[in-house]
Amino acid sequence: MLVLVTGATGFLGRRVVRELEERHHTVRCLVHTPGRERLFPGRTPDIYYGSVTDTEPLAEAAHGVDVVIHLVAIIRQRGRATFESINHLGTANVVAAAKQNGVKHFVHVSANGVTNDINFRYLYSKWQGEQEVINSGLPYTILRPTLMFGPGDEFLNTLAGLARIFPLVPVVGPGRIRYQPIAVEDVARCLALSVDRQDLKGKILDIGGPDQISYNEIVSIVARTLGKKRWRLHVPFWLMHLATLAFQLVQPRPAVTVDQLRMLGIRNVGEPGIVDQTFGFTPRTVEGNIDFVRSVTAADGWKIAMGIMPARIRDH
Ligand SMILES: NC(=O)c1ccc[n+]([C@@H]2O[C@H](COP(=O)([O-])OP(=O)(O)OC[C@H]3O[C@@H](n4cnc5c(N)ncnc54)[C@H](OP(=O)(O)O)[C@@H]3O)[C@@H](O)[C@H]2O)c1
Repeated sequence: MLVLVTGATGFLGRRVVRELEERHHTVRCLVHTPGRERLFPGRTPDIYYGSVTDTEPLAEAAHGVDVVIHLVAIIRQRGRATFESINHLGTANVVAAAKQNGVKHFVHVSANGVTNDINFRYLYSKWQGEQEVINSGLPYTILRPTLMFGPGDEFLNTLAGLARIFPLVPVVGPGRIRYQPIAVEDVARCLALSVDRQDLKGKILDIGGPDQISYNEIVSIVARTLGKKRWRLHVPFWLMHLATLAFQLVQPRPAVTVDQLRMLGIRNVGEPGIVDQTFGFTPRTVEGNIDFVRSVTAADGWKIAMGIMPARIRDH
């Protein structure tokens, strides 16, 4: 089975490529930034270069493909790379290329909490992307992961950086909103298992980890993993909003954008047990599986506090 993975070099994509290869699928990768394929040392997946904004390279990449796993999306807008151009219209372009080439299964990664409420701009664009897939006439499966964690993630590594250097870790509001983080490796496994599952065609699945935990609990788990005793500093939303806005104006790549801050204010939970029931394995918990945060140093912490994610931690 020939599987095209878009966003193959990303946080999730590189794990998806590995999972597919382990299951002996032939993998083709759409690579956006030439050179990023270095991530696949010792292996030579079939590489096609291009952007989801350009239809021609997409048509070439989709030629002869059985299944597409579409992962490309941006969480921060920059220049011409907007939520509309990448998350919505980029998905429409990939769908069109898949249709043109008679792809048999379109596996799409959306996000937990997608909404047709235009005020949540990222989640709205992910909803628009989903609509392109659903209305395409292609056999599709949509997975909507909750917050993903793993080496290279932005969320737990940011908390670890702050907990490394400050005795108080800032929390937006009371910190009681619940999340259900899922390990990025487990999402990759679900995707690789979806490829030849006929019974999942036409399904939309909200997948999450085994625990629903609050922001406060996540901060405690990160601090415990670092072996630190940390207090939480509960900051009112309006104040955090102002600070984030100011950061966003001066930082080209802020650690958190206003849009992300607003998303932290909504529940991010999937259907309990859905990964076990659908894919036959239990996803890992946060506690006990985030040793990677221990490698965040104080120097990293200061950079993170300044809104810069060190490339040593997240290389894209
Ligand atoms: N991370 C999470 O917690 C989370 C949670 C729920 C859902 N999701 C969804 O999961 C998917 C993967 O997320 P991720 O965290 O792996 O993202 P990521 O690490 O930012 O990776 C995005 C990938 O897309 C590529 N890309 C960006 N712009 C492109 C363009 N114009 N044309 C072609 N490729 C382009 C990037 O390549 P370059 O780096 O070369 O630009 C990269 O390979 C996304 O659909 C996201 O919405 C993520």
